[in-house]
Amino acid sequence: MKFRNFKMVSYMVYGRGSFNQLDEILAPQRRESQPMIFLVDHFFENKPLVDRIPLRGKDKIIFADVSYEPKTKQVDALAAQLKQEFGNVSGIIGIGGGSAMDLAKAVSLMMNNPGSSADYQGWDLVKQPGVYKAGIPTLSGTGAEVSRTTVLTGPTRKLGMNSDFTPFDQIVLDPELIADAPVNQRFYTGMDCYIHCIESLTGTFLNEFSKSYGEKALNLCQEVFLSAGDWTPLHDDRLMMASYAGGMSIAYSQVGVAHAVSYGLGYLLGTKHGIGNCIVFDKLEEYYPEGVKEFKKMVKKNRIEIPQHITRGLTNDQFETMIDVAMGMKPLWENALGADWEKKMTRGRLRELYEQL
Ligand SMILES: NC(=O)c1ccc[n+]([C@@H]2O[C@H](COP(=O)([O-])OP(=O)(O)OC[C@H]3O[C@@H](n4cnc5c(N)ncnc54)[C@H](O)[C@@H]3O)[C@@H](O)[C@H]2O)c1
Ligand SMILES: [Fe+2]
Repeated sequence: MKFRNFKMVSYMVYGRGSFNQLDEILAPQRRESQPMIFLVDHFFENKPLVDRIPLRGKDKIIFADVSYEPKTKQVDALAAQLKQEFGNVSGIIGIGGGSAMDLAKAVSLMMNNPGSSADYQGWDLVKQPGVYKAGIPTLSGTGAEVSRTTVLTGPTRKLGMNSDFTPFDQIVLDPELIADAPVNQRFYTGMDCYIHCIESLTGTFLNEFSKSYGEKALNLCQEVFLSAGDWTPLHDDRLMMASYAGGMSIAYSQVGVAHAVSYGLGYLLGTKHGIGNCIVFDKLEEYYPEGVKEFKKMVKKNRIEIPQHITRGLTNDQFETMIDVAMGMKPLWENALGADWEKKMTRGRLRELYEQL
């Protein structure tokens, strides 16, 4: 038995208002005449948060269009633009949801690695550390702040750059930054965390490390999404820690059926990760009976509509594409269904599942 040896986030600060410490946190990372680049979710354009970004010297804010989830082309273009303008940079600071954070991770890596980010979609293909990178979530749930991957849609697949060089050097977890997230988006991204917990805790890869984090994250999600009364700052505090703990839980285990199937939707239809996971999980009673029951309670309590019939009218080829993408996620299936998963999850069964969505 060989145990995985993980690189984790090097520094992290947690607390309300911790964003105000960003200037002093970045100061020791600045290299002479090379700027810090703040890759900020376009939602924050003309919002007060932007005025609080501690710009020095040639520092630059780039608003990242995250209408679509990050693409390898977008990453390559950003890295090329920065190389052309500055030669190199002191660091990349991603401020936003999972998409903006993933973009920051990927651009940091592509500042120091040759070729296209598409060449590095997979496991442990990245050879050189990127430039300094920090992640500052404004939505909580994906666990992108702690993970060793950055999920990208490339020319032939949707797959992460999974490597020891991918985790952030620094994360700033300030619950004030997620306070204004729209209710629906907050729910979808929060459910990403809930689903991470269920897939991790019921998976065959589970160990005590994953279980410890997974159980804590699950409890926090239950408190956040099932407690009576209105949403309060305490909910934001807890959701932010749930995302962190949920991310830590899957670091040592894996996600499962919902994620594998949702990747197919994302690749073909561009369905976003959080909502896609909800659309799929809603139909997974057979695989996660308790989790799906509780999920439906959360949907009802938070008055969320889960879209239905999104695969209606798709062609045979389109179903085949989604099935190809989902079937390619081998570690996810193995975690969910065991080493003999191929006997349990056939293309036919997967087709039936996709047709229900
Ligand atoms: N690296 C990983 O480990 C990992 C894990 C899971 C998901 N992901 C990736 O994360 C992405 C999904 O992230 P997400 O669910 O956080 O959503 P997102 O980053 O895609 O953002 C969703 C929407 O919310 C907006 N938004 C962000 N913060 C906001 C705020 N505070 N207030 C109002 N609007 C805000 C964005 O502009 C966008 O329109 C996907 O690209 C997915 O592939 C990565
Ligand atoms: Fe996820």
